[in-house]
Amino acid sequence: MLYIVDTANTEKIRRCLEIYPIAGVTTNPTIISKEHTDFLALIRVISDMIGKDRMFHVQLTSTAFEDMIREAYSLREIIGEKLYVKIPISQEGLKATIRLHREGFHITETAIFTQQQALMAAVAGADFVAPYVNRLDNIVSDGVNVVGEIVELLTRYQLPTKVLAASFKTAEQVHKISMVGAHAVTVNPDILDTLIYHPLTMYAIDDFRADWESVYGKKTILDMVKETER
Ligand code: E4P
Repeated sequence: MLYIVDTANTEKIRRCLEIYPIAGVTTNPTIISKEHTDFLALIRVISDMIGKDRMFHVQLTSTAFEDMIREAYSLREIIGEKLYVKIPISQEGLKATIRLHREGFHITETAIFTQQQALMAAVAGADFVAPYVNRLDNIVSDGVNVVGEIVELLTRYQLPTKVLAASFKTAEQVHKISMVGAHAVTVNPDILDTLIYHPLTMYAIDDFRADWESVYGKKTILDMVKETER
């Protein structure tokens, strides 16, 4: 499972990088617009922050083929090899996917709502397809089932494309898509926190501390080791 953080907020990204095994950052125009800041400066900062070994998924804003290609080249100039060009699926988008894939770009086909959109994008050369789980659930569809069938199709046709499940509102949705074999998730930092939280874990940690302190007081293992070194 690849965990990707779905925000352009630099403070939140910094915190997530310190705590979680983050494989990259995803943004979209909505996420970027929430920061109310200079776009190019922001992506430079995020790019530096995540280092060269993590992915940076940035969505194109142009919708015409030639402009999309130019935009992808400009983004790669700034971000380098870790750039994954996010392309919302459309006819122009697929055309751009085929071209950019041929020219060595990494591509994430986004705004995926059906299994056949995902299959088409995969055959066109997308590295990732990003189905929107919560938005599907919101229209009384079944986001988890769509993700599961996309995984099945990619496996059946032996396509190297990975499923990057997106659009989550609950940890339960993340759990369910991991059970159907999604390769990656992109989630906001709050969901990352929720994924590892359990009140019984907090109780267990408190009990361990209380039992230890009842015998050794506030002394830690490190304090004891330092005493033997004196
Ligand atoms: C990520 O790549 C998607 O753009 C994002 O997860 C969509 O999430 P939303 O449905 O919460 O806007």
